[in-house]
Amino acid sequence: MCGITGYVGDGDALAPVLDGLRNLEYRGYDSAGIALVDGGAPSVYKTSGEVDALVAAAPDESEANCAIGHTRWSTHGPPTDTNAHPHTDCTEKIAVVHNGIIENYETLQADLDDHTFTSETDTEVIPHLLEERRAAGDAHVEAVQAVTDRLDGSYAFCVVFEDFEGIIAVRHDSPLVVGHGETGAYVASDVTGFLDRTRQVSYLEDNDIAVLDGDVTVYRDGERIDPAIETIEWEADAAEKGGYEHYMRKEIHEQPQSLRQTIAGRLDVDGGDVDLDVSLSEEQLQSLDEIEFVACGTSYYAGLYAARLFETLADVRASVTIASEYDFGGGRDPWRTLTVAVTQSGETADTLSAIRAAKQAGAQTLAVTNTLGSTVTREVDDSVFIRAGPEIGVAATKTFASQVATLALLAVYVGRRRNALRAGRASTLLENLRALPGAVQQVLDNEPVVEELADTYADSEAFFFIGRELAYPVALEGALKLKEISYDHAEGFAAGELKHGPLALVTEETPVLASLTDGSRAEKTHSNVKEVQARGAPVIAAASADGDGTRPAVDEQLPVPNIGLVEPLAANVYWQLFAYHVAANKGRPIDKPRNLAKSVTVE
Ligand code: F6R
Repeated sequence: MCGITGYVGDGDALAPVLDGLRNLEYRGYDSAGIALVDGGAPSVYKTSGEVDALVAAAPDESEANCAIGHTRWSTHGPPTDTNAHPHTDCTEKIAVVHNGIIENYETLQADLDDHTFTSETDTEVIPHLLEERRAAGDAHVEAVQAVTDRLDGSYAFCVVFEDFEGIIAVRHDSPLVVGHGETGAYVASDVTGFLDRTRQVSYLEDNDIAVLDGDVTVYRDGERIDPAIETIEWEADAAEKGGYEHYMRKEIHEQPQSLRQTIAGRLDVDGGDVDLDVSLSEEQLQSLDEIEFVACGTSYYAGLYAARLFETLADVRASVTIASEYDFGGGRDPWRTLTVAVTQSGETADTLSAIRAAKQAGAQTLAVTNTLGSTVTREVDDSVFIRAGPEIGVAATKTFASQVATLALLAVYVGRRRNALRAGRASTLLENLRALPGAVQQVLDNEPVVEELADTYADSEAFFFIGRELAYPVALEGALKLKEISYDHAEGFAAGELKHGPLALVTEETPVLASLTDGSRAEKTHSNVKEVQARGAPVIAAASADGDGTRPAVDEQLPVPNIGLVEPLAANVYWQLFAYHVAANKGRPIDKPRNLAKSVTVE
């Protein structure tokens, strides 16, 4: 997720675009840039770092009355000056800012073999393709349409040309909104990009092309249309949260989109394989004795999920260790061990310390992280990015889903290269992953039911989450979410362990939240559900339908779509919503729970 913005109209374009970038910085903040158009080739200023670094690099004032800007959250290429947007063509007469992922950029780049590319981004193909179309005689809008027709993926981009007075903007599966101001027109990833200057907006629809010059013209399916203009009533703070009261709720709701971004361009469902940029050779993967995951908190639970998947799909011993407990134990051959750090931030001190210990012992190291350029990526042999976009709420939500989805892809990658996984079985899992964003959306659509349940049970004595196998980490994660943000007592248990002790805690005052999904021996967990029901505990079950299409009889039934081994991830979204609404019911400071920080950089 990145932020893009633009202005064209009377007066200086520099100030509104820089202000817009500051307001969009929550969408990404690892590098920033701007292109100013003042009757010649676009002047590009860009730098790694936050928007303040760009302000220092850009001129203090400008005569330009047209500009586009970008604040980046890297997905392809680390956050360097060169990889910052805008990107230009060979002639430097065309500049582009882009949000999203161009899935087929490598193929497109290969077709442009006489062009010199200067960055490692997927974005750079766009100005080069535009250069080709302009050289072939296309008019500006025609060129943009022709290039857009060749792009696969989700994207929104804005382009400026040396010989065009204005901005052309396109969206496809990535948001873009146009603002109608008194002195000119604005464009941005969301309304916060210009809310301090105008509240009159038009939301672009998929595949719309908007031309901002003196006016705003929108083309839909090749026809010129009059876009509807709405007045925004939100204040800037609410707008930044997409109209939600908290970032956490916004991030829960972003999951269908962030998961799509995680898997974009990586699935070969028909071929039963994945396209992951991993440098480990087939020989290295085949000779592995063990894959070990090191992580903390929510990322540790993602590691637990992954370890099960690796053992099932890649036929390799897989273990997971809480990073602060890690020690490269004896009896193992470091050369045959791959140590994987799972860390959203890439900055967690405990995880860094564990990965350093593994490296020192001689193990191969890999990071699975959300943050390009983070410390962990500089220390490991290789990194795979989860592409969830920035997460601002302290409680991790969308990054857990994207971590597990990425690790599932990695399991397929390793399994296929170790000849442990048949293409047919891999296809089924990849098909499930492809269905996951839609399944998560179905869960999100049930939010009113979850909110009511949360209100009913908010004052309970304690909450117990149970699950087996792949649903066990989800039970732990559900409990962690609830305790973090509501401050209530919540525990996650392996369902079969209840009878070995924790059952003594179960009463009519302790709701039990059970995940009964594929990949979790649901029929056995069902027996544990009966045990707690017999003690009077109310049971809320997130359950997928079994072969006969039936779900277990419990007090509250939350349906999970049938999507195989990733069903527990959909169930987890119910527990995120439950935690959110219990905490909201109690008026807790949800985005910043007491005593906690987003990035824990001390051991
Ligand atoms: C819980 C949470 C934490 C983090 C943990 C690791 O909601 O966010 O438990 O998961 O601090 O952080 P990363 O993944 O950045 O290493």
